[in-house]
Amino acid sequence: MRCPHCRHESDESARFCARCGAPLGGASGAPARPRDARAYTPRHLAEKILTTRSALEGERKHLSILFVDVVDSMRLAEKLDAEEWHRVLDRVFEILAAAIHGVEGTINQFTGDGVMALFGAPIAHEDHARRACQAALAARDTLRAYAETLRPRGISLAVRMGINSDEVVVGKIGDDLRMDYTAQGQSVGLAARVQQLAEPGTVLVTESTARLVEGFCMLADAGMHSVKGISAPIHVLELCAIGPARTRLDAAARRGLTRLIGRDTELAWLESILARSMASDGQVVGVVGEAGVGKSRLCLELARRCVARGVALYEAHCPAHAATVPRFAIRDLLRSFLGLSQTDEVDVMRRSVAEQLAALDAGLADAVPLVLDVLGVGDGAAAPSARSTADLAGFLRRLLRLRSVAQPTLVLIDDAHWMDPASHELVRELAAAVRGTRTLLLTNFRPEHRPAWTGGSHYHQLALSPLGAEAARELLDELLGSHGAVSGLAASILERTGGNPFFTEEVVQALVGAGNLVGERGAYRLATPVEALALPATVQALLASRVDRLGEVAKQVLQAAAVIGKQFDEPLLRVASGVAAPRELDAALADLEDLDFIRLVGLSPHPEYAFKHPLMADVAYRSQLGERRAQLHAAVATALEKLRADRLGEYASLIAHHWEASGMRFEASRWKRRAALNVANIKIGQHRRRPRP
Ligand SMILES: Nc1ncnc2c1ncn2[C@@H]1O[C@H](COP(=O)(O)OP(=O)(O)OP(=O)(O)O)[C@@H](O)[C@H]1O
Ligand SMILES: [Mg+2]
Repeated sequence: MRCPHCRHESDESARFCARCGAPLGGASGAPARPRDARAYTPRHLAEKILTTRSALEGERKHLSILFVDVVDSMRLAEKLDAEEWHRVLDRVFEILAAAIHGVEGTINQFTGDGVMALFGAPIAHEDHARRACQAALAARDTLRAYAETLRPRGISLAVRMGINSDEVVVGKIGDDLRMDYTAQGQSVGLAARVQQLAEPGTVLVTESTARLVEGFCMLADAGMHSVKGISAPIHVLELCAIGPARTRLDAAARRGLTRLIGRDTELAWLESILARSMASDGQVVGVVGEAGVGKSRLCLELARRCVARGVALYEAHCPAHAATVPRFAIRDLLRSFLGLSQTDEVDVMRRSVAEQLAALDAGLADAVPLVLDVLGVGDGAAAPSARSTADLAGFLRRLLRLRSVAQPTLVLIDDAHWMDPASHELVRELAAAVRGTRTLLLTNFRPEHRPAWTGGSHYHQLALSPLGAEAARELLDELLGSHGAVSGLAASILERTGGNPFFTEEVVQALVGAGNLVGERGAYRLATPVEALALPATVQALLASRVDRLGEVAKQVLQAAAVIGKQFDEPLLRVASGVAAPRELDAALADLEDLDFIRLVGLSPHPEYAFKHPLMADVAYRSQLGERRAQLHAAVATALEKLRADRLGEYASLIAHHWEASGMRFEASRWKRRAALNVANIKIGQHRRRPRP
């Protein structure tokens, strides 16, 4: 009997495929069906995928692909009774699914005796490579433990894994959550090939994945390898463990942070609120700004100053992948309050908590079991409940007050835009509790996030803008150095990165990675001329995940705007986007303005907008397929012909550009001729007006 899933021929009486364990029709009479990803997918993830699928179809996405395969499955299948083999494989799939879904990846396909999983699409994540690595490591470790339980029965179970990060074009997403895709070049095949190269029980990643997880994961060089279908040998690395960096700033610090540039005014403002807080008038600050603008860095600078002056620092950092992990941030903060490390032995932690709480205040002893539970070293009996949350809030308030009596205190909540909801509630309690204490609660988050602690007369907000032109130039000098040819590059980097320090660092890093720049940071030389500045994968992922979180109409409007250009007016956008209903377009524009994608730059004669960040326009443009872009370019050209009918000469070259981009060569050359004629007429006009000698 032939397996409907992996096509393997099994015995006629078999109920399960001898190779992949899929149920077969036949003896039991059950219809043979391949494994269905839905059966392994938690409902909230399935719903998230199904509600956003139509907005994703036909888009170009940067993502990470994980392939997992059971080693020697044929031999294992032979050794075991078919039903038993089916049970083993089921357990393997359960372990894989838990690890993959734990970081919001999706299983795209069961490949017989393994899976193919995607991270970054259909659910958008700016840290998709990191999530893929985390899932692979979690699965590797749990599978090792499971394999140990099988060993006494003579079964040696192991899997190989491979990860690659690249672009694919998203096709249809079916009800079974399976996403069809068109691989760009080698992207998907490469992940599969890298998996085949892996030793049993190990994970290999390609260079493009390695670059994205630098600092976050520990990698070991696994050499150059020739793989089928690719002419040049490829460099692969073994993924060994989670690395020491918790946040992106941590990872950057490992490369060496550049000098803090251009934030004197902001620091002076923060210092004034700090001074007030230290005088028993506790305050709360929210530093708000777009991704990569330097919120964490500014807070780090203040924290360093505080520590140097003897202020106690307690901190929690919220990584993106922990946004759905209940109480993650509060656990981090509790560890910091109690001077514990993630790697401490369980016994050491338990003893330390009991001793510290007893020494602080006799009344805190009751809280020991709760604190141990939150730290993940309790007896695990109590699941988080309303009661335990209230108790925990009470405990945190007391702890904060006691600490600040002993020493002035800075509590830092970093990257609060990734905070899990349970921790969020508790930080709100802390914000209320700092009043009247020697505490400054310093938080930072992106503008699309509105935490609950932002009210109250003791709350202050600092809107952090990108670096001004002078400071951005200084940062570039610091990064690039002043070598003649290199400094010529600075102007175009500045124009593209708009003063965002993270984007600036990444664009420079991408030029180093591509071999355009050689040497040391701060003293680079230009090795090969730069044709066009590439969009770094890190920046693309970050901006693309912001676009994906938009509603469907807002996204459609943003994409049409990107085709028009960096600046656009409302009537043109209305025609080009196809969103004709005034209310719908107004709401979409208001959303885009609110979320900092665009800003209003003029009102007369029509509202005119510009992309807030030049790279956002690039990302929104690139994510669309060529065919869709061509249609939009044609729509823009037609709209311009109509809306600018009284000034066609002035707009002729722009109209020609849009016709050209839409592939309509005849129209393009017609408008080019008209543009040339217009230039000639202007010249003649000028010539006639010029006084004759
Ligand atoms: N004023 C500055 N001078 C020099 N480097 C800076 C400055 N501000 C930020 N950077 C650098 O830019 C990078 C991004 O900064 P940071 O991580 O603080 O951004 P962020 O606003 O916290 O971003 P996110 O919203 O993603 O958390 C870091 O490597 C940081 O060191
Ligand atoms: Mg940050």
